[in-house]
Order: sequence, then C-alpha cells, then structure tokens
Amino acid sequence: MKKILVTGGAGFIGSHICLKLLEKGYTPVVFDNLTNGHPDAVPDEAIFIQGDIRKKKALDSVFAAHSPLAVIHLAGLIEAGQSMSSPGLFYDVNVTGSQVLFASMQQYDCKKIVFSSTAAVYGNSEKYLIDESEPVCPTNPYGRSKAIVETILADYCKIHGFRALALRYFNAAGADPAGRAGERHEPETHLIPLCLMAAKNNGRAMSVFGTDYPTPDGTCVRDYVHVDDLADAHIAALQYAMKATDPAFEQINIGREEGSSVLEVLKLCEKITNCRLKINFKERRAGDPYRLVSHNEKAKNLLGWEPKFTDLEDIISHAWKFMEQADR
Ligand code: UFG
Repeated sequence: MKKILVTGGAGFIGSHICLKLLEKGYTPVVFDNLTNGHPDAVPDEAIFIQGDIRKKKALDSVFAAHSPLAVIHLAGLIEAGQSMSSPGLFYDVNVTGSQVLFASMQQYDCKKIVFSSTAAVYGNSEKYLIDESEPVCPTNPYGRSKAIVETILADYCKIHGFRALALRYFNAAGADPAGRAGERHEPETHLIPLCLMAAKNNGRAMSVFGTDYPTPDGTCVRDYVHVDDLADAHIAALQYAMKATDPAFEQINIGREEGSSVLEVLKLCEKITNCRLKINFKERRAGDPYRLVSHNEKAKNLLGWEPKFTDLEDIISHAWKFMEQADR
C-alpha cells in the first residue's frame, strides 16, 4: 500500500485531499485530534488515528506502524481573527506541533512533505496580484506561525535533506462537487459558510467587518479558491516532492487570481440562495489584511496546476448544495 500521512485529514481541506489520494491509488493515514475535524469526514477506505501532533510518541508510533511515503501536513489552527486574542495557542499548535512532526519524520527517514501554508504570510501588499517574491509580512499571529514553520522547513531541507513544498493557500471555499464532503467548522467564522448559514436560517444577520479599507467598496478583498482545486494542487505538489532528487524547498501560491470583496460575496450568496440577508456593518476585525489575491504563475510552471473552477458563483453553489443537505 502506498501510504501518505495526512495530519489534519479530518478537516475541511484534508477530507477533500483524502478523496483525491484514494482516486490516485494512495492510502491516506489520517492523524487528527478532531479540534476542527470530524471522524465521519474521513473516507471509509482511509486509515484514521485520533491524535495530537504535539505528542511525539503518538506520531512515532504512526511512522513505525505505517511507514508513510510522504506527509501532507495540514493539522493546525486556522482562524486569523482568533489568533489576535490567543497568539500563544497558535504558536504552540502550529509551530511546536510542526517541529514535533518534523523530528518524527527525520527519525523515521520520511523526508517528503507538502505543508499547508497560507496567503496570510504576505499581510498587506501594494501589488494587486501577489507572487511568491513578495516580502513575508504577516499582520496576525496565525500568518506569523505559518511563516515561522516555512523557515523551519527550509532549514530541514538544507540541513536534513527534506524535500518540502509549502502551499500558500488563498481562501479555501466550496465543497466536493459530488457532495461527499464540505465545510463544517464549529463554531463557524468564515465568510461564505456564515452567509449560507444565515440564508438557510432565514433572517439571521450577517456582520461586515470594516467598510473603510482602501478597496473599491471599502470592504476586504479575498481570492476564493475551490477546495477541489486546492486538493488537486496537493496531489501535484506531492508528486513533485516525491520526484525531486535534490533537497528542495519551494513556496507556491494557490489561488484563483481574482479578488472579491465581502459585499460582493454577500450579494452572490443572496443570488444563489434566493434569500435577502440583513447586514450589520461593524468595526474592522483586528489583524485583517485588506486585500489578498494570488498570482499563480509559479503553480502553473512548477506543478502544471491551474484552477478548474474559475467562477465564484460555481464555488459558492457547491458550498450551498452541501450546506442544504447538512444539518446546520
Ligand atoms: N468577514 C466578515 N464577516 C464575517 C466573517 C468574515 O466581514 O462574519 C470578513 C473578514 O473580516 C475578512 C473576510 O470576510 O475580511 C474573509 O474572512 P474569513 O474569516 O472567511 O477568512 P480569512 O481571510 O480571515 O482567512 C482565511 C482562512 C485562513 C487563510 C486565509 C488566507 O481562515 O486560514 O483565509 O487568505 F489563511
């Protein structure tokens, strides 16, 4: 069996990656502490182990029992807003947890890894399309925790011969087009699922955080990328890391090269759900960069990856289809 360890594989993005790995003939070994994940999100054909990446003994026993060919590392805390009130927790889970994982990988001679990084490492950039040469300048501890792990990984590549790709995702959205998986954070803080939940619970109000940003309508702009495309990018990155012969470290943006403001997302959600949303305009959310839009050239050149889902309406429609059938 060609096993791939997927930390955080029971979460939103991880569960979609597991489906793709199975389609490609790999067996995902999911290691997840279920803080954000759900055991029923792990496909039946995958192996599931409940555990925390900060516990080395638990990780060691996974490497000893399964000898994975490579690791896709997604486990971690993801909410930029929450990181502004609990930075220590983010450094503990995201940085310490990653270090424990890398130590275990080195011990068991498993040196190929795809790491879940983020566009939040860039912070506020003057450029509309951000490429990987832009300075790393995060505006919140979440982005900083991911930037620190990228730096650690680069050292593991240079010094210990790891082959690593850090995928800097822009805003993951949508759901499996076949309806097998979708987004289920508890509590939910992300814009698109919150809008859809508000529409489903007809009448619940939506908050818009900040209306005075230097953007066309004053609200924050994000680049929403379909989770199915994101999962494809992981497979391409995994295959790249497995083929690489030299110790290599690359950071690669994964986005759609198109920005949408908070108000544009709200309008599209209203159209798709056929429901008028009540809006409360609020203060800016601390730590939010005003605009994050991806330049994808490197992903195209290095991985041959491009998004299949280019229309935000399709992306939100898939999320809505999943939400309508789910119990939320
Ligand atoms: N927003 C609102 N109202 C809400 C929720 C969000 O106005 O009720 C706004 C936010 O302030 C932000 C935008 O919508 O301006 C998007 O916010 P999300 O919480 O949906 O997503 P973030 O951009 O904060 O972060 C997400 C992921 C990160 C990832 C990042 C990459 O949570 O893990 O995208 O851009 F790193």
